[in-house]
Amino acid sequence: MWNKVQETVNYIKAKTGFTPQYGVILGSGLGGFADDITIEHSLPYSELPNFPVSTVEGHAGKLIFGKIGDKNVVAMQGRFHYYEGYSMQEVTFPVRVMKYLGVEKLIVSNASGGVNSFYHVGDIVILYDHINLMPEHPLRGHNDERFGPRFLNMSEPYSHALIAKAKEIAVEQGIDVKDGIYLALQGPTFETLSEYRMVKILGADCVGMSTVPEVIVARHMDMECFGVSVITDMGDSDGVGSVSHDEVLQAAALAEPKVRTLIKELIATGE
Ligand code: HPA
Repeated sequence: MWNKVQETVNYIKAKTGFTPQYGVILGSGLGGFADDITIEHSLPYSELPNFPVSTVEGHAGKLIFGKIGDKNVVAMQGRFHYYEGYSMQEVTFPVRVMKYLGVEKLIVSNASGGVNSFYHVGDIVILYDHINLMPEHPLRGHNDERFGPRFLNMSEPYSHALIAKAKEIAVEQGIDVKDGIYLALQGPTFETLSEYRMVKILGADCVGMSTVPEVIVARHMDMECFGVSVITDMGDSDGVGSVSHDEVLQAAALAEPKVRTLIKELIATGE
């Protein structure tokens, strides 16, 4: 793994000479954020040694390098999901690459189903914790200490400092945000009504099929993380009947401008 990561990093460095400070992973229907970046380089995943190739509708499959304000950013347009059949090592490989390109802060967005009864479709939720119920763990197996420790402290998966900053920005920009706990399941089915109820009983506010593996691996390498979720459907008896991939993409697209502003400002005004 170490050698593969370094090979990919060296390829990208040779090709771009770019050193990103921020990494961004864009969720379903949220890929338009790339338009906010003053793009300097764009590399399709298919060109990158050791990179998996993205398959899901709504995911373009490239790494974008450029500027937000005076910050250097790398964005993944299209992420890898466990339900597509990738191993957890493949799902999280780009995060390892980001780290050795220079990224210190990782910003992750996703679409999720809400189970908190105070949420509505279109809400923007700042994640402050997660519950990992994915069936495979990205750190299972041999631990390479060059990346990080065997037993990783997960008391602050999402940086309190970045959460506080994002909340300030939300107030300044007049963007209504909620906060919450994200529970990760493997998918690809949306949840049954009983499963949504389980998610709620377990203490989460929303449920999705991504993000948690990337955040675990980022924390393994001591990167600071910020996670934001768009509630695209409600996992209650009213919402559960209509949830579909199209509905998810549409609801995400409606909330997208606000999510973009939030992420853009968080980066532009950051350290
Ligand atoms: N469940 C799981 N993943 C999701 C959902 C959901 O309701 N909405 C968007 N992604």
